[in-house]
Amino acid sequence: MQNNTQEDIIEIEFPIKSGDFVAAGDASSKTKKLLKQLGIDPEIIRRAAIACYEAELNLVIHSLGGSLILTITPSELVIKTQDIGPGIADVDLAMQEGYTTASDSARELGFGAGMGLPNIKRCADNVEIVSELGQGTELTITIKTNK
Ligand SMILES: Nc1ncnc2c1ncn2[C@@H]1O[C@H](COP(=O)(O)OP(=O)(O)O)[C@@H](O)[C@H]1O
Ligand SMILES: [Mg+2]
Repeated sequence: MQNNTQEDIIEIEFPIKSGDFVAAGDASSKTKKLLKQLGIDPEIIRRAAIACYEAELNLVIHSLGGSLILTITPSELVIKTQDIGPGIADVDLAMQEGYTTASDSARELGFGAGMGLPNIKRCADNVEIVSELGQGTELTITIKTNK
């Protein structure tokens, strides 16, 4: 059992803009850099960077904007996104490989392969999606850092 104090926990919030393909990836590259500085295991960093990038991109592509909140505790990384947007009608369907509702313009830029959520699932120890149609989506990814 660990008794975490407030100082053991780092929390950072990155605002994410809808449609901003230039800034897309900033939150995940900053996350990767920070995890490296903290000396986190490279395999954990690899998984966190993929999950973070896919989560971030989903806000850029599918939402009207929101934020990504990274929480680092002594035992886990939590990557949470919260957005305002269309929400996800069928979460099980959205989790399937190849399923996408990305626009033609996003696809022309090379996005919308429908692999983001399946990749997030592969990289995470736990994934939770709470979505309300016409309101928005909250995605919570947990990656354990101590086995
Ligand atoms: N934040 C979000 N808001 C609304 N819909 C989303 C969001 N994230 C994912 N989705 C839905 O889930 C689908 C699958 O997501 P994903 O696996 O990342 O593939 P892709 O982003 O390539 O479409 C998206 O096409 C979209 O319909
Ligand atoms: Mg995606």
